[in-house]
Amino acid sequence: MFKHMTALPPDPLLGIAAAFKADSNPKKVDLGVGVYKTEDGKTPILTSVQKALQILSNTEDSKSYIQARGNQAFLDGMEKLVLGAGNALLDSGRVESVQCPGGTGSLRIGFELIKRGNPNAKVWVSGPTWANHVAVIKAAGLETAEYPYYDKANNQLKADEMLEALAQLGPNDVVLLHGCCHNPTGEDLTPELWTKISDLAVEKGFLPFIDIAYQGFGVDLETDVAGVRELLSKVPEALIATSCSKNFGLYRERTGLLTSISETSVLAGAALSHMLNIAREIYSMPPSYGGATVGILLADEALTAEWKAELAGMCARMIDLRALLVNKIHERGVEEDFSFINRQKGMFTFLGITPEQVKAIRDEYAIYMAGSSRINIAGVSSSNVDYLADALAAILKK
Ligand code: LMR
Repeated sequence: MFKHMTALPPDPLLGIAAAFKADSNPKKVDLGVGVYKTEDGKTPILTSVQKALQILSNTEDSKSYIQARGNQAFLDGMEKLVLGAGNALLDSGRVESVQCPGGTGSLRIGFELIKRGNPNAKVWVSGPTWANHVAVIKAAGLETAEYPYYDKANNQLKADEMLEALAQLGPNDVVLLHGCCHNPTGEDLTPELWTKISDLAVEKGFLPFIDIAYQGFGVDLETDVAGVRELLSKVPEALIATSCSKNFGLYRERTGLLTSISETSVLAGAALSHMLNIAREIYSMPPSYGGATVGILLADEALTAEWKAELAGMCARMIDLRALLVNKIHERGVEEDFSFINRQKGMFTFLGITPEQVKAIRDEYAIYMAGSSRINIAGVSSSNVDYLADALAAILKK
């Protein structure tokens, strides 16, 4: 059965973590996988999350299955967080969510749902996009294509080209949008672009599929999804994949949800039945722990306030690290202007160096980043920023 199988190359992102771990250089710096880190390079459990976990372990009295769609407090709390507590959609009967194993699980269920709705749908992703998006879409059997998004040479959005490309689309198309903190570039859609894309979605009839993995990492929980909320207020249908990996720090608990917005409540019920059926065919029902934890946290006012403060702290630290890195690079007298790093949002930024320079900085300095030159800004710290800036300056001046 398996004797013709050959080994695959390492995953473009997870492979970096493995290579970093194996490197014995004491100066090594990990700017690879998108995991938040403190000044000392740790990824601790948030205090608010720890308290919710404690409540869960004190009160959980069974390991029997949870309901197929997931933890109800989790689903209610997360819908409010993404859509906004007073959003009229919440009472419209048009919104249905299912808890899924992480953001990736949510995306996969979403693409499988699209495949059932229209097997000929084509999914448009931003150029560039998260290294795993295309693989997940293809695994669901859908065709993919790329819309212009980021101009690497000038470190800015390709706004006009993007709008032109989206204006050519129609009802057989799906447009995958990053809700905020674009991965890998950190370059977000402006409010004006959200308005224009929303209007195009209504006019042309394409389905917006929004991936939200970093709510609260850009500016704050509300500002980060303002564009998404505007879009959802206009379009008849949309899908949203939300991850709790980063903003709740629940990475290994694989906690996320897929939300469908349908034209009518009858169609919403049909979509829900398919989401549950797809999940049943793959893994039956989601793991409980992460969803139950977030459900407890979001149902408790004091814990929610504490979590929001912790999240704001992570966000502020990443903004400070951006400024620190830019200053340190410029202090080294490099010709290139890296001030765009300050404008970009969230966990990632695209340095814009060549693949050869990415390789050189890894081989010569043990500094690890994605092949695209994406860096995890949370991997920078006051103790490694000088080393990093020296290395970058040396590589750039070669
Ligand atoms: C990343 O982009 O580094 C993270 O979302 C982790 C992952 O699963 O790729």
